[in-house]
Amino acid sequence: MKPQDHPTDENSDVGFVAAERLRIFDTTLRDGEQAPGFSMDRRAKLRMAHALEALGVDIIEAGFPSASPDDFASVAEIARVLRELTVCGLARCHDNDIDACGRALASARHSRIHLFLSTSPLHREHKLNMSKQQVIDTACAAIERAKALCHEVEFSAEDAMRTEPEYLVEVFSAAVAAGATTLNAPDTVGYTTPAEIAERFAYLRQHVRGAEHVVFSSHCHDDLGMAVANSLAAVSAGARQVECTINGIGERAGNASLEEIVMALRVRPAYYGADTGIDARKLYPTSRLLTQLTGQAVPRNKAVVGENAFAHESGIHQHGMIKHRGTYEIMRPQDVGMGETRLVLGKHSGRHALRQRLQSMGHEIDEAEMDSVFARFKALADKKREIHDEDLEAIALGLDPEAIGPWRLVQLNTNSHMGGSASASVKLTHDNGHEIGEAAIGDGPVDAVLRAIERATGTTLDVTQFQVRAVSEGGDAQGQAQLTARHAERDWRGNGVSTDIIEATAHAALAIVNRIERQGASRPDAVTEECGHGRPLFDLRANGRAQKEITQ
Ligand code: KIV
Ligand code: ZN
Repeated sequence: MKPQDHPTDENSDVGFVAAERLRIFDTTLRDGEQAPGFSMDRRAKLRMAHALEALGVDIIEAGFPSASPDDFASVAEIARVLRELTVCGLARCHDNDIDACGRALASARHSRIHLFLSTSPLHREHKLNMSKQQVIDTACAAIERAKALCHEVEFSAEDAMRTEPEYLVEVFSAAVAAGATTLNAPDTVGYTTPAEIAERFAYLRQHVRGAEHVVFSSHCHDDLGMAVANSLAAVSAGARQVECTINGIGERAGNASLEEIVMALRVRPAYYGADTGIDARKLYPTSRLLTQLTGQAVPRNKAVVGENAFAHESGIHQHGMIKHRGTYEIMRPQDVGMGETRLVLGKHSGRHALRQRLQSMGHEIDEAEMDSVFARFKALADKKREIHDEDLEAIALGLDPEAIGPWRLVQLNTNSHMGGSASASVKLTHDNGHEIGEAAIGDGPVDAVLRAIERATGTTLDVTQFQVRAVSEGGDAQGQAQLTARHAERDWRGNGVSTDIIEATAHAALAIVNRIERQGASRPDAVTEECGHGRPLFDLRANGRAQKEITQ
């Protein structure tokens, strides 16, 4: 019986060293990249490849060289540049594919050709129109040809999980005899179950001739949402390579997610008894890089790397977390490179979490005051989906959170055109009675607005994170901009909401500037012309009624 483990890092698994080394075969740049919406150009692929090497993957499937000249060039470049890991290219069992793959991998320090051929009855009959023996002969000839062109050959029996088990044994036994050193049994259509795949891997390991000389690999798709569970079941049954992708991207519903597999093994080493060479603290940064390169965000609730993965809003959970974080977290955000646990304050939150957040922001609230602070917090939480630091600060300072300043945006204009720089002008008021207008050009409208706000307020914002997301639906959806900026050696976060994302960004930037100024980290007189923060373009006093103009 397997030892039982318990969640949290204060559990029995800590200190348990998993005996078996599992190879991580990353196919983000091949199976992931070929999915609609995820294509990457050569530069993006190279950047991602470097990140995957730093992450510690063992094998990178860099592409399918015969798919296009660009795919060929990407594989060749990755093969030339990455020296720490095995670079792999995909090929059908066709001479031209194999030769192209060999050429693309020629400069790799360690190369692998990944051959695939369908073995299931459905594919044999309708796709290949081949007999069982023809499939075996074609696979063996391809393996022998590939062997001469690279360091190692992997053979995949496409649609293996819908292939007759006895026939799969014959195919794999012939592949071993021909020289394949990795045997991959893909669940190409995401059809199998954990119990079934475990049984299949145990059967293959027992019956394939020469099994002891090769590595068995799993490659699961997520059509029924079981890709990770199926991959882990295969590992439990002896698979020693898992094919997976960052953020689980891939054909249709995607491939097994690398970060989920890695963390399942890390959280439950006693249960699985296997570990990888992945530097888990790079999981979140690598996931973020992929979302930036593809423009495809992960869902908020995505395991391990989603925005909510370490966020708690319910009062009961927050109370538990404050007492002992192991009550509701089985891993720490720092373990995956994500920074701190977030106690999200909203209408479900309780006094404990509110007090803790206020303390962390430097506001000690005594018990008598806490009642009214909490009541005001709840009143605001009923109106807003999420309460941000700037709202809390206003509540703690006895200000009206819906009218917090000192800076307010009264006018915004932006202009941008394709292939050129953008310009923005802002008009701001300050609670001390000053009004100021400023303009700036930037690398796109967001950059231009930020520059204009910096000039107008005299507060420099070194933006480290910027995110925009829809918080309602439809063409007139409200967009929320979240900014994190560094100023005076601290990180400051600000949020802004508007139907116009540039305006939302301006509000987010002002939320930060306001917090900096309220906390005295910036000169409060920064608004004055005498300080030399640029010549005001507009004077509201002269201009009359404030107006909002947005031209883009
Ligand atoms: O899903 C699949 O079967 C594949 C093969 C090429 C391994 O991606
Ligand atoms: Zn696949």
